[in-house]
This record gives sequence, C-alpha cells and structure tokens, in this order.
Amino acid sequence: MTASHTGSYEPVFVGTVMEELQSVLQRYPNKQAALLPTLWIAQREHGWISDRIMAEVAEVLGLTPAYVKGVVTFYTMYHQHPVGKNFVQICTTSPCNICGAEGVVKAFLEHTGAGDAGATSPDGKWTIVEVECLGACGFATPVLLSMINDRAIIGHLTLIIGNS
Ligand code: FES
Repeated sequence: MTASHTGSYEPVFVGTVMEELQSVLQRYPNKQAALLPTLWIAQREHGWISDRIMAEVAEVLGLTPAYVKGVVTFYTMYHQHPVGKNFVQICTTSPCNICGAEGVVKAFLEHTGAGDAGATSPDGKWTIVEVECLGACGFATPVLLSMINDRAIIGHLTLIIGNS
C-alpha cells in the first residue's frame, strides 16, 4: 500500500519491488519502452494508479508525468481509481449489444450488488465496467474477469460470483 493513514505517500518502487523493476528494465532497450510493465507492477502493488503513482513512475523511468498519464488514460487495463477485488469488463459494442450485452451487464450488476457500471459493490469484491470490443466478437457477449492478485479462472459465471 502506498498511502499511509496520515495521508503521506509511500513510494511503490522500493526494496524488492525496485529490484523487480530493475530486472524488468534489463529486458527493454530503454526505460520508456518498459512503461507498460512498470505501470502493471505499480497497479499490482497499489491496486490502482493514482496521479502520485504516475508521478513516481515518471520519475523512475525519466519520463514526464504527462506522458505517463497519457498512457494510463489510453489503456482501460489501468485503473485510475480504486476497484473491487474482481474487475469485470463486459463488451457492449454494437455486435455484442445485438447479442444481449445489456442483459449480461444487468445480470452482473444484480448478482454482485455493484449497482451501477463503474461502481464497486459495497463488500469491495466487484467492479463491473462496460468496454469496447474485446476482440472476441464471435463469442458475444465476452466477459473479461480479472482477479486482483489472483489467478484467471474459467467456469460458470454464477458459480464464480458465488465463490468470490
Ligand atoms: S464487439 Fe464485442 S467483442 Fe468485439
């Protein structure tokens, strides 16, 4: 965790996390090229990427905070606010909408208690978001489930929701 109860900032890239970053950097031709995996590490450690974390990433990679923010805001895989333990992305682009995506979103919101798309359930377990094409149009409606600090799972969705 990077923010203490007093509101002071605790850097992400210290100790073993900094060692991991140094290892990652060795696989790339320059620090800028390692921005995506660096952000991924930051998100794994903190759960989401705040403006302060973007500034830290910019500092450790020798980039501007504006450049880092541009990348974070471009990719939906980076969270710009706290999310639930389980982050669910549902494609609601036209082809999937024709195949019932709105019903899938509604079912997730009801079964998880999240209430509204983009909001997190009161128990902190679920955040459901609508996204653009997930590249699985032939299987409409695709659902991408990311378990924070956990493994990917495949199975019957009502069982997954019930066991999480
Ligand atoms: S339009 Fe939904 S996955 Fe492509």
